[in-house]
Amino acid sequence: MVSGTAMFFSAVELYYFNPAFKLKIAVLLAAAVLQLTLFRKVTATDTPNPALVKVSVLLSIVLWFGVGLAGRAIGYV
Ligand code: HEM
Repeated sequence: MVSGTAMFFSAVELYYFNPAFKLKIAVLLAAAVLQLTLFRKVTATDTPNPALVKVSVLLSIVLWFGVGLAGRAIGYV
């Protein structure tokens, strides 16, 4: 987060219009919302709903890896 923000402000005009950067921030926000809502709900109880556990784990893996992949794509778009 810190190094990414520093890189962003080092060349705002370059990154702001980059579609991969925009996708990355959208996925990052979705991952953060998931972390603060569903993930927190599932991990707050000793007997969570198994279906909710699977959904939150799958979404979490896809979104956080998505942030990294979109970050990698920034340099290619
Ligand atoms: C959990 C949060 C984050 C993760 C996992 C992440 C991950 C990555 C990865 C894997 C890369 C590619 C590095 C490479 O090509 O060698 C990258 C690049 C970058 N990230 Fe992030 N990032 C995160 C948050 C942020 C944030 C919050 C910002 C800005 C507000 C940001 C801005 C950038 C920029 C500008 C690049 C450079 C792209 C380039 O010139 O190739 N990142 N990030």
